Amino acid sequence: MLNIVIFGAPGSGKGTQSERIVEKYGLNHISTGEVLRGEIAAGTELGKTAKALIDNGQLIPDALMIEILAAKLDAFGECKGVIFDGFPRTIAQAEALKQMLNSRGQDVTAMIELDVPEAELMTRLLKRGEESGRADDNEETIKKRLVVYAEQTAPLKDWYKNDGKHCYINGLGDLDRIFADIVAAIDSRI
Ligand code: AP5
Ligand code: MG
Repeated sequence: MLNIVIFGAPGSGKGTQSERIVEKYGLNHISTGEVLRGEIAAGTELGKTAKALIDNGQLIPDALMIEILAAKLDAFGECKGVIFDGFPRTIAQAEALKQMLNSRGQDVTAMIELDVPEAELMTRLLKRGEESGRADDNEETIKKRLVVYAEQTAPLKDWYKNDGKHCYINGLGDLDRIFADIVAAIDSRI
């Protein structure tokens, strides 16, 4: 089982590179952001809770997010592995993921950190906001997302270093070069 955590700030390219990783390695993909946007579009109770938080650049509470992730993982059943995109985002989520995988006799294979400078993140997300209209891609909300990332999510880099899973990737530049670096990092661990 290949379990990849794709990690990085908002706009670092997690979703973009996940598509390529899925294609190459035949993995199932969980993007917690996509799951939440699906719930918002469907108008569920969870969607209503999530919308208020997402529009304000804040995280969904850990307990709720962990429950959602566990249900997704169970629904996959037998598979080659999973790419986790946008999860974990807090240390509590990383601990829960490790426990969930360990209880299935598995672990995270690699945590891939896409490192991109803040100015570039802002440029990418503002551009996507204009093109696709994602509700949280406006300057005010992007700034809040970046603060939440720095305070609550970036500490996971050290957590995964301590767990021996962290792989650093320069996420700035050509998509093919970034993907080649990711493949080299994954292949060195399987
Ligand atoms: P989520 O949907 O995960 O959003 P995010 O982390 O803010 O990241 P994005 O999806 O915006 O960016 P990305 O890294 O996927 O980059 P992409 O490939 O799209 O989460 C949204 C919200 O949901 C959170 O704020 C939170 O409220 C909630 N949430 C989600 N998960 C949660 C959790 N676990 N716990 C609690 N709350 C949670 O690329 C971005 C743009 O850049 C695209 O337009 C792309 O075409 C472009 N691009 C990509 N690569 C390059 C490149 N190399 N050069 C130039 N442009 C590029
Ligand atoms: Mg994404």
